[in-house]
Amino acid sequence: MKFSPSSLLLGLGAAGAMAQADVQDGPYALKIVDAEDASLNGLWVDACHSGAAIDTPCFSADAAGRELFYHNHTATGEAGPLIRYFNVDTGGDTPTRVPQPLSLTYVPSTNVANGLLSVGNTDPLNVAFDAAGKLFVRDYYDDSKFAAGERPQPGSYDLYHWQVCWNLASSYYYQSLAWVTSGNPHNPTCVAVNVTRVTPED
Ligand SMILES: *[C@@H]1O[C@H](CO)[C@@H](O)[C@H](O)[C@H]1NC(C)=O
Ligand SMILES: *[C@@H]1O[C@H](CO)[C@@H](O)[C@H](O)[C@H]1NC(C)=O
Repeated sequence: MKFSPSSLLLGLGAAGAMAQADVQDGPYALKIVDAEDASLNGLWVDACHSGAAIDTPCFSADAAGRELFYHNHTATGEAGPLIRYFNVDTGGDTPTRVPQPLSLTYVPSTNVANGLLSVGNTDPLNVAFDAAGKLFVRDYYDDSKFAAGERPQPGSYDLYHWQVCWNLASSYYYQSLAWVTSGNPHNPTCVAVNVTRVTPED
């Protein structure tokens, strides 16, 4: 894919038009906790190159390699996009910072959706942090409870379906942050984890 600053700025405009969030918190570093394979605990979320202005949330064992993220949300709501800023050299004295909101990539052959950090992303994942600082996704329906012909009433479901999996990210093969839609992950390399936020020292 060819990459030019003007296509980036168009992408940025699209992301801006989508935004409903008006408060931004951060920066936060993100750390793996609760992993079923304890050797993953303590890893930091990093960003690994997977295309032009496209990254995949991968991991770094040491704090120096970690990425920082910002959380957008409305003043009244906790959920909103989680954003990494990507520095683009647009020829000026300082690089332009373009947002790469976290999203998930769903494909028909698996219940594992790989994480994606992409400029111009128009469908960011809305996430929130619980009282313990753990990252979750809130959904309002559980289709395992649906009945034929009876329109379901909305509920509130806080989901912690994070996984660390070896996965393809365009031509790269990384151990990356992913999500299982429901049940056990189809990809046998996946390990269930949680992700917690840490405020970096000044
Ligand atoms: C996030 O919030 C900042 C600050 O309010 C805003 O400038 C930006 O457009 C928002 N981005 C997204 C993707 O919501
Ligand atoms: C992640 O945290 C949630 C909420 O505390 C918990 O219910 C879930 O079991 C945790 N996941 C793992 C893999 O331990």
